[in-house]
Amino acid sequence: MMYRLARSAIFQLDPEHAHDLAIKNLSRFTGTPLDVFYRQNLPPRPVQVMGLHFKNPVGLAAGLDKNGECIDAFGAMGFGSIEVGTVTPRPQDGNDKPRLFRVIPAEGIINRMGFNNHGVDALVENVKKAKYDGVIGINIGKNKDTPLENGKDDYLICMDKVYDHAGYIAVNISSPNTPGLRSLQYGDALDDLLSALKVRQNELAKSRGKYVPVALKIAPDMTEDELVQVADALVRYNIDGVIATNTTLDRSLVEGMPHAHEAGGLSGRPVQNKSTEVIRRLHQELNGKLPIIGVGGVDSVMAAKEKMMAGAELVQVYSGFIYHGPRLVKDIVRNI
Ligand SMILES: Cc1cc2nc3c(=O)[nH]c(=O)nc-3n(C[C@H](O)[C@H](O)[C@H](O)COP(=O)(O)O)c2cc1C
Repeated sequence: MMYRLARSAIFQLDPEHAHDLAIKNLSRFTGTPLDVFYRQNLPPRPVQVMGLHFKNPVGLAAGLDKNGECIDAFGAMGFGSIEVGTVTPRPQDGNDKPRLFRVIPAEGIINRMGFNNHGVDALVENVKKAKYDGVIGINIGKNKDTPLENGKDDYLICMDKVYDHAGYIAVNISSPNTPGLRSLQYGDALDDLLSALKVRQNELAKSRGKYVPVALKIAPDMTEDELVQVADALVRYNIDGVIATNTTLDRSLVEGMPHAHEAGGLSGRPVQNKSTEVIRRLHQELNGKLPIIGVGGVDSVMAAKEKMMAGAELVQVYSGFIYHGPRLVKDIVRNI
């Protein structure tokens, strides 16, 4: 009820302005009496995934807290994990504004943010300050001005810097808003990236005495063949998990709706079935060899259950959280 009232005010604002305002206020309110507005005490629903203990299977998806400024606020809402980022080696502004749009009739969002973030060093400082006792995932990417052929170096730079501070590392090669990025999902480029990440992960595990799992985040817009090849590469390189999925380029479910023609990735209810199908196919291919984290249109208990029935061991939310607020986390955790 309270979020519904707040939402009608928030939705009067330009979406990116609303987002920035929310992040600013959340980081200010945490630890003050004002956090009663979003603090939720949820029952434990413990799960072990990628060798990590999650107090419940509902996580915050990447992109909402790109710089890790509100980890404790999202923690107070009851999330079992929080994925911060995508972060790049150097700070960057992202694409020109406007770059974030609501597709309200479909409870969708279109974004072409382009990895706007304060850089990996700033993110690490924020993660170090956080008191949150759940799992923090750190999602890493490449700078826009790093040539694609050197993209691997950006992931390795980020991996080195976040390794000591991450519960797991998510490797984002599936954003549609960094030119060419999605080509890293295929063929030799994928093999090259995964093998380099695996070598570095093993070196770091040895030198730090701590193994930090690595999960690959993939797009929903893959052909059957491409999906099979990705699954094969994940197994061959011993990757610890897969996050399915990022946003879609497909507009068929929002045709004619406001903002539907905007360039960028579409998320929320319009990507729900598509990402569930990717999870289902991946699950058949992977056969339990590595866990799947399901994301895309999780906006209800039922939607979360569908993802899990398709083979996901954890779920994440972004757009559903924007449309339904912290209550969504509570409902799913209580009823899963
Ligand atoms: C505004 C916005 C920004 C996003 N930024 C990122 C990002 O930086 N990195 C990433 O891996 N995914 C990003 N995503 C994708 C989400 O993490 C998620 O995979 C996708 O939105 C599908 O989930 P949803 O339907 O619950 O939103 C972003 C999504 C939105 C809506």
